[in-house]
Amino acid sequence: MINFPNCNILSTDQFACADIAQLFTAAAVVKPYAKREQQTNVLQGAILSNLFFEPSTRTRLSFSSAFKLLGGAVNETTEISTTSSVKGESLCDFAKVVAEYCDIAVIRHPDAGSAAKYAECSNVPVINAGDGANEHPTQALLDIYTMEQELAKYDKTIDGVTLACIGDLKYGRTVHSLLKLLALFEDVTIHLISPMSLQLPKQFTEKLSERGHRLEYFNRLEPGIENVDVLYVTRIQEERLSEVDQNNLQLASFQINRTIYEQVCTPETVILHPLPRNSRSDTPELHTDLNDHPNLAIFRQVANGLTVRMALFALIMDVVEQISHTTY
Ligand code: NCD
Repeated sequence: MINFPNCNILSTDQFACADIAQLFTAAAVVKPYAKREQQTNVLQGAILSNLFFEPSTRTRLSFSSAFKLLGGAVNETTEISTTSSVKGESLCDFAKVVAEYCDIAVIRHPDAGSAAKYAECSNVPVINAGDGANEHPTQALLDIYTMEQELAKYDKTIDGVTLACIGDLKYGRTVHSLLKLLALFEDVTIHLISPMSLQLPKQFTEKLSERGHRLEYFNRLEPGIENVDVLYVTRIQEERLSEVDQNNLQLASFQINRTIYEQVCTPETVILHPLPRNSRSDTPELHTDLNDHPNLAIFRQVANGLTVRMALFALIMDVVEQISHTTY
């Protein structure tokens, strides 16, 4: 179990079911503030260091907006080249310095394990916003939150769910964190659909196997998405692949589009994607012809990211109880 006040969030390994429940209870408290129906200054005087050393749009902006919507201030660092790392400063010294200027830090960094390494040297709590191809725990939390809401529309729960993960399961850190979290639920079936060269590394299935969940591997799309409750579509992590590897992927055969969705999926199949989806490719992994489909939940997922990150800040900064007294 997590003791949220002042804790680091580095991996979904840290979470138990009760922690997810506590987070979602806090999410209900902050939701009116995320929706701008109410305003609070509960974090007035607090400063977040938002350290992004890899490209990001929604993760960085939602963390930043989440802290500001709770009344806090944010220092943004978006280029490793503008920090003293280029002068040879170690990640550990950097963490010690940053901690003097803020109350909490969020870090995205290209190296697996970097967030944990950073946290060891930080005197303020640290949230991992993506460490290379390893994990992205807060994305998984918002994915679970979204999944719960979307499945409820069809009277379903995460217990008993069948979920297909499609795309780059090797380097896609959102899937890595999500699968560890899903292992906490009951009677989960996971279909892992990817090109052979981008299969899920074993370490991310251990928890699912230990708890007796079903895992099936597919290197073709159609059999993997038949009758599933949720599609979790992911982008090929081009930045982590060589050009030769990319050219051999035959991505067209893994694309979710309206034709295949209507032919193979059920009318209740929810479509999730952590985003960004690749619009440059000739064969984007998730076609825009599904944009007006009611089961396409990708932008609701984005909105939920703000609520879940506000809830996480409120718990770590230990202010959930004070929010209602600081409303103006
Ligand atoms: C993901 C990431 O950065 O891991 N994006 C996100 O945070 N929503 C997914 C990706 O980049 O493909």
